[in-house]
Amino acid sequence: MSPSDWGDGTRSVRAGETEPVPGAPLRPSPVFAAPFHLGDLPPRTGGADAYARTEHPTLRDFEGAVGELDGGRCLSFATGMAAISAAVLAFVGAGDRVVLPSDGYYTTRLLARSELERFGVRVDFVSTPDIEAYADGGGLEGARMVFLETPSNPRLDVCDIAAVARAAHAAGALVAVDNTTATPLGQRPLALGADLTVGSDTKALTGHSDLLLGHVSTRDDALYAAVQRWRNNTGNTPGPFEAWLGHRSMSTLDLRLARQAQNAVAVAELLADSPAVTGVRWPWRPGDASFGLASRQMLRPNGVVSAELTDEAAVAALLGASRLWTAATSFGGVHSTIDRRAQWGADAVAPGFVRLSCGIEDTADLVADLSVALAALD
Ligand SMILES: Cc1ncc(COP(=O)(O)O)c(C=O)c1O
Repeated sequence: MSPSDWGDGTRSVRAGETEPVPGAPLRPSPVFAAPFHLGDLPPRTGGADAYARTEHPTLRDFEGAVGELDGGRCLSFATGMAAISAAVLAFVGAGDRVVLPSDGYYTTRLLARSELERFGVRVDFVSTPDIEAYADGGGLEGARMVFLETPSNPRLDVCDIAAVARAAHAAGALVAVDNTTATPLGQRPLALGADLTVGSDTKALTGHSDLLLGHVSTRDDALYAAVQRWRNNTGNTPGPFEAWLGHRSMSTLDLRLARQAQNAVAVAELLADSPAVTGVRWPWRPGDASFGLASRQMLRPNGVVSAELTDEAAVAALLGASRLWTAATSFGGVHSTIDRRAQWGADAVAPGFVRLSCGIEDTADLVADLSVALAALD
């Protein structure tokens, strides 16, 4: 059986592994070094490490694993935003046009408005449900890049990556996909035709709410070299501890996603049955606006759900009556959390709109706790 036939559990643990060396640990320990001995080697000719901002052994191991899950070559970054910045800024310059989601992660919009436009890049915003028709209608003509986020955060709309990629490539534009919500096990944008897949590995990929990381993967050597050049010159390289902990954490991705999705099924049903809640979204729930496309395009579900309570006070009451649902932003971690998105002032959502991130606690406990909290809203 070849590694490409392995299931998600095996791949989460074994991706990127090299031949075992007797006496070596199963998972290499972090190598804490900034410069390395050069000896007589001219730097970067003998495959020896020279300076860790460019690359280092612990990062290579982690990137090998993430790249294998993505089906490409991976470059890691200190945060998800550093990875998104690299994916865009390594390719666009003054006078170029990029198309970004109007309904995706808000800091990507801030990056565009505060930084890209300042350097003379034209930015057009299109919503995730509208991007396919926009691309088919010729909207990407003259664009340097279209950046997708599917499922979008926080509304969980999806778009057809393969269809947008076909139109984008015909128009000469690059396609980058923020794959954070799906994770590399849940969706493979490179196989669907994207040029670059990016992720905030702060979220489910590492999944314990204790580190910041991001990555860009691609199958194209020239694109890889451009992102690598950007990272070398801007210096957003993760250090050995983060890379080691990220690698260790991703070993359980398959298990965590399975429990999170199992919890999301029950939580979405519970919310939908509550008179205090409207607009429940979970792309794998039959009847959800994303269901058809998510089922075709994605490989497996995850634990991110969104819904709407009547107002800010209702969210506060729900959180006050709950023991297991913690108020916190971010998502994809082992703890179940609720984030009232309007409090950040950047998403076009109602005051009672919440993103729920189902953790890996027992389904029965989460449901019992949330039922009590919802009853407090009646
Ligand atoms: C979809 C998405 N992309 C990117 C990011 C940015 O990631 P980071 O916080 O690791 O910079 C986030 C963070 O919430 C996100 O939700």
